Amino acid sequence: MVPPVELVRPPVSMRERLIVALDVDDLEQVKALVRLLAGKVGMFKVGKQLFTHAGPQAVKLIRETGGEVFLDLKFHDIPTTVAKAAIGATRLGVRMFNVHASGSLEMMRLTAREVHRVCRQEGLRRPIMLAVTVLTSLNKSDLERVGVGGEVMDQVVRLALLSQEAGMDGVVASPHEVAGIRAACGRRFIIVTPGIRPQRGKRNDQRRVMTPEEAVRGGVDYIVVGRPILEAKDPLVAVRDMIAEMERAALS
Ligand code: C5P
Repeated sequence: MVPPVELVRPPVSMRERLIVALDVDDLEQVKALVRLLAGKVGMFKVGKQLFTHAGPQAVKLIRETGGEVFLDLKFHDIPTTVAKAAIGATRLGVRMFNVHASGSLEMMRLTAREVHRVCRQEGLRRPIMLAVTVLTSLNKSDLERVGVGGEVMDQVVRLALLSQEAGMDGVVASPHEVAGIRAACGRRFIIVTPGIRPQRGKRNDQRRVMTPEEAVRGGVDYIVVGRPILEAKDPLVAVRDMIAEMERAALS
């Protein structure tokens, strides 16, 4: 039996709900962006690009500069290996990390159990544990070719339920899948979504995008935004505009 997962406090302000993807290569850029935006956004996402260039030092730098970290390394391996990587992430002080739900119930269950154990034993803050359901870059025919039949949405909900059973706090999903996940997993299950574009912004390579207002109204807890902020003439103004768009959802 997995011990009951202690409740993770839901984000309250729209600022807390905005995660900036630091998709850059070097620590100088990280330092400049975090100095500018710490306290103005909820978290900074460190993904495979930054982590393979700069390593754990990127996480340490963000923490020292006053930012919270979402470590987006999407662990997928045998249960012991993922659990050990998750312990490493916990000791780095990240606020959130993720694994692939398709790695199995046992992989997620052991990870959740080990993170709880280490936090208890070492007096550490427990990170929010998320699972990636189906990558938004995959469609029905991609899934068929790796042996998964049926609709994408059914697979997303199946994996979200598996993650919940394993003791994960929530999932990473497309904003278009939020209603199905909410119906299956309830209000307290955390949903984090990328693929968000401001009302008048460029889409880049994101296809099925939503605006921040639509995403919040649809029931998303956290939104992840990269290029619309990193490539803005003034990232601080882009962040303020984004938060204002999210707040409109709360007003309507
Ligand atoms: O620049 P943009 O806002 O598109 O950045 C979105 C971030 O979310 C990127 O770091 C990307 O890797 C990540 N992401 C995504 N789609 C997924 C999972 C992660 O866009 N399905």
